[in-house]
Amino acid sequence: MLVQEYFKTRKVLIEEALETYLPPSDLYPENLHSAMRYAVFSGGKRLRPILFFAAYEMLLGKKNINRLERLLPVACALEMVHTASLIHDDLPSVDNSEERRGQPSCHIKFGEATAILAGDALLTKAFEVLTEIRNRKIALDCIQILTRAISTRGMIGGQAVDILSVKKKINLNTLRYIHLKKTGALLQAAMELACAANEAEENITITLGNFALNLGLAYQIVDDILDEVGSFDILGKEPGEDNRNNKATYSNLMGLEKSKKTAEKLLRDSYNLIKNMNNNDILVEFINMIKDRLP
Ligand code: IPE
Ligand code: IPE
Ligand code: MG
Ligand code: MG
Ligand code: MG
Repeated sequence: MLVQEYFKTRKVLIEEALETYLPPSDLYPENLHSAMRYAVFSGGKRLRPILFFAAYEMLLGKKNINRLERLLPVACALEMVHTASLIHDDLPSVDNSEERRGQPSCHIKFGEATAILAGDALLTKAFEVLTEIRNRKIALDCIQILTRAISTRGMIGGQAVDILSVKKKINLNTLRYIHLKKTGALLQAAMELACAANEAEENITITLGNFALNLGLAYQIVDDILDEVGSFDILGKEPGEDNRNNKATYSNLMGLEKSKKTAEKLLRDSYNLIKNMNNNDILVEFINMIKDRLP
């Protein structure tokens, strides 16, 4: 199967399931439901749920879209959490971003209060959806993995240190912490969820988790680089926002060239972790996609 075909079919599957899970926009309170849908259906790449499926199917030993049906709650929960994080990330008190995916951000379109609630609602919906997993042990494992990934020691912790570091001179270890947590933790969760759904051995879970942490760190470094030298088309918003916000970024701390080298090294490290696994082609494609984003 062609890689493009894989991405396309899994994306359609995820978007059809999101469509059924999210309350309709004409259901009271319409404004809130419309804001949730606006944020979810505005052209996201669906990287986290596709990464989850890719790892699951790799562990399964074959690509089989029919086997993914029962895992749709997990895939959609990942995308809901991610979307919630973006809505809150764009708020005036956080990154103050007026554009997301080439369109007005959720709070610009619906107002700040509704955007805050839409983020809360998506975060909550993610866990409601996870309770639909029939196998109770797997359901509980998934809830535990996802809560840990989002927690104060995960994505939210990373966002907290990101905010605390504005206008401050921070060292590389702190910046690494921010990026590993705010972006890496959810990618790591995608791997751990695939392992839980497959009841994989612990050593596989650790290896795939480390693969995703390297990938996430590289992804955020590339995002920092693009914020400095990228275009509206690739970013979905005007570049230069991190500097305007006095954010700590890799490009500010070590310069563009060294940041690029660091991202490339992390992508090589992530490749080395999975290169001997069978059926790893889609995971390898994720590495290549991130490499291709580098200017
Ligand atoms: C954006 O994530 C936030 C970062 C971690 C840099 P994505 O690049 O996955 O965003 P969408 O969902 O495809 O828009
Ligand atoms: C976003 O990082 C990380 C999370 C939302 C958890 P950024 O603030 O760099 O992402 P963009 O640039 O707004 O997409
Ligand atoms: Mg941010
Ligand atoms: Mg931001
Ligand atoms: Mg950014």
